[in-house]
Amino acid sequence: MNRKEFIVKSCTACIAVSAYSIILSSCAATKFTSGKLAKDGILIDINEFVIKDKDKYRLYVVVRNDKLLFPICVYRFSDTEYSAIWMQCAHQGAELNVAGDYLQCPAHGSEYDNRGKVTNGPADRDLRTFPVTISNNQLFIDLRKV
Ligand code: FES
Repeated sequence: MNRKEFIVKSCTACIAVSAYSIILSSCAATKFTSGKLAKDGILIDINEFVIKDKDKYRLYVVVRNDKLLFPICVYRFSDTEYSAIWMQCAHQGAELNVAGDYLQCPAHGSEYDNRGKVTNGPADRDLRTFPVTISNNQLFIDLRKV
């Protein structure tokens, strides 16, 4: 094997391994729920964040419901603190992807933190967010400002 072949094969293997691990980690981490529509918002069971048999919590849950134009990513910071973020890019409206503790736009690469603040353009404004309240083991996402 000559030097050029070695470099090409090594780079190809590295890229394949990296891509595979990213795909696996993102699939394993994402929990989807449809939630339950209520009068002014949507309810999700707080147990959606619990990782069964591990005594741990998911970083986020994605609410995907046919009645919503875009999904909502709900991040958990503590037992009493959550953020609910509308997953529509503030640049030109593409649906965002969740990448762990941040959101990324597949269209032009804008990025947002787990509270919806823009961290990387071309978007120049934050994402739409919603108030979250907790009652009887349910999170209520107030959608009145959609
Ligand atoms: S639509 Fe998201 S960065 Fe352009």
